[in-house]
Amino acid sequence: MTRARWRGVLVAVVVAILAAACSSLEPIDPVEQTSDVSESGDDGEGQDQTTVNAAGTPTAVSDVVSDPWQANERLRATLNLGAVFEVGRGETWGPAFEVDDLDAIAAAGFTAVRVPARWSDWAAEDAPYAIEAEFLERIRAVVERALALDLGVVINIHHYDAVNADPVAERDRFLAIWRQLASEFADQPASVVFEILNEPNGLLVDQAWNDLAADAVAVIRQSNPGRTLMVGPAEWYRVRDLARLELPPDDNLIASFHYYEPFVFTHQGAGFVEGADAWLGTPWGSDEDRSRISEQFATAANWAADREVPVFLGEFGVLSEADPTDRFEWIDFIRREAEALDFSWGYWDWATIDFGAFDAASDDWNPAIIDALLSP
Ligand code: BGC
Repeated sequence: MTRARWRGVLVAVVVAILAAACSSLEPIDPVEQTSDVSESGDDGEGQDQTTVNAAGTPTAVSDVVSDPWQANERLRATLNLGAVFEVGRGETWGPAFEVDDLDAIAAAGFTAVRVPARWSDWAAEDAPYAIEAEFLERIRAVVERALALDLGVVINIHHYDAVNADPVAERDRFLAIWRQLASEFADQPASVVFEILNEPNGLLVDQAWNDLAADAVAVIRQSNPGRTLMVGPAEWYRVRDLARLELPPDDNLIASFHYYEPFVFTHQGAGFVEGADAWLGTPWGSDEDRSRISEQFATAANWAADREVPVFLGEFGVLSEADPTDRFEWIDFIRREAEALDFSWGYWDWATIDFGAFDAASDDWNPAIIDALLSP
């Protein structure tokens, strides 16, 4: 190609990018999302598919620019909408959720909601892996109501079992789901944070997870260059595995971990954990119990300080089978330790019988849990 022709191509590309950036943020047709970057001349690693139209330009680019510390501040008292959109398609795990329930969540004093969602049950099995509009609309309704109530929002991919079992085979589908989500929610403000994947596990560990997380960040950046993203460690987001997490090369991240320790205390009697009945009666609250948590949190805080990244303790909770005093003291202790270290937090969960801060039977909050979480 001649130099003049190169210049012409360059100008055309710049104009197209500017036009795309200025255009309205309509969701893009997933069919348009499968163009290989080699067609657009970009051979960036981890970006073998990109949010482009036939001309090779991004079709929905968000102008949101968020600061990760400010975004994390908004998440300082988050409630997880557990057992709502994370359930298997057609299943029911807890009380029915209506967007109006967000009004009570905001009124109780929570500052944000995390919206765990099982997108993999709503995306096609074959390329371009289109997500069904019905499910996108359900999540969009939650996001928009939450924002109207001044609640922050964490959108994540939850329970993608197949990507944990076979990260290589599921890579394209996982990235295609993110490409669509990032484009769909590109029009949302800075208080919407994208979390790459809840609790990677199985074969999605160490380099496999570190690489996939970086690839997902690269895909999301094509449509959301300035939005805060969130990532946590493989092996179920355990605090001790933060050291194995290689943060993607990006300066707009929140690091996350989950805390359910001692597991025999928090999950005693859990119907979904084999053998958990044998743990019934496990107490908590000795000085040793408390200092173990303080030490683990301090290690996490040091890890984050070395990397200059804010921290979101994205899930913690105790089953209602535990001794009530121990349960409320554990919840109170965890959230105060987190706050002392400037971690934002997300309580698990909204209203299941197992963990819920809200009691659907009486249609009211559990006052002891609300006190443990939100009292000064
Ligand atoms: C899972 C829930 C589970 C909770 C506590 C979450 O990450 O999505 O299904 O109840 O952890 O174990």
